[in-house]
Amino acid sequence: MFRNTAPADVELPFSAKYDAGHSEAYHDKHRSSLRRRLSNRRDLQLARNALALAGDPQWVLDLPCGAGRFWEVLGEHPARQIIAADNSAAMLEVALRHCPAGLGGRLRPLHTSAFAIDLPDRSVDSIFCMRLLHHIGEPGHRLAILREFHRVTRDTVILSLWVDGNYLAWRRRRQEARRQRRGNTAYQNRYVLPRATAEAEFAAAGFEIIEHLDFLPLHSMWRIYVLRRI
Ligand SMILES: C[S@@+](CC[C@H](N)C(=O)[O-])C[C@H]1O[C@@H](n2cnc3c(N)ncnc32)[C@H](O)[C@@H]1O
Repeated sequence: MFRNTAPADVELPFSAKYDAGHSEAYHDKHRSSLRRRLSNRRDLQLARNALALAGDPQWVLDLPCGAGRFWEVLGEHPARQIIAADNSAAMLEVALRHCPAGLGGRLRPLHTSAFAIDLPDRSVDSIFCMRLLHHIGEPGHRLAILREFHRVTRDTVILSLWVDGNYLAWRRRRQEARRQRRGNTAYQNRYVLPRATAEAEFAAAGFEIIEHLDFLPLHSMWRIYVLRRI
């Protein structure tokens, strides 16, 4: 018998920006230049490798699915069922409008928050979470999301975030220090996490690390972790 014990939602300022206009722009963004298309191709390749490391899960919760950027890769496994979830109804609407032909029957949209996933305990084999955690600056909020992932997955989580220990994180830290010296306190909605902090948070939420994959080792901040529920 399934039990749905989702905790209360948390509303973050960054989540509010994904309205209709921003969602359509986000869909177009990854196709807008050669650099972005190459970077998107690398993201898809890493996602494919991460799914293999996670044991090619059958039931996958893509959260947040955004504009459905990873649906083709997720759909490559013929038996896979995809729950495509996002906090933004506008994002879901854009994603479904651009859904790859033939995938519709295996894809179920879900309007929900990562803080309070509207699914029962242990209801999917894997949660696939690209480009959400780098927006979450509060450790308590990250832990709340990770605990919610632990409740909903029965096996693995695949997630991406920004980590330190590379050139771009070092450059960002310098730019940030310069910004603060100039008194510029503009609202930040993306954060770099020390790898040790991220890994301690995964352990605190009840996960062990199967593997990590770097977008471009020693240069890029993007890292994908493949985690297993313990
Ligand atoms: C940068 S996009 C990433 C989308 C997709 N994973 C990708 O990589 O293309 C961030 C997404 O997070 C969603 N989002 C924001 N707050 C959320 C929340 N609390 N729960 C679930 N999704 C959220 C936004 O609506 C948006 O679609």
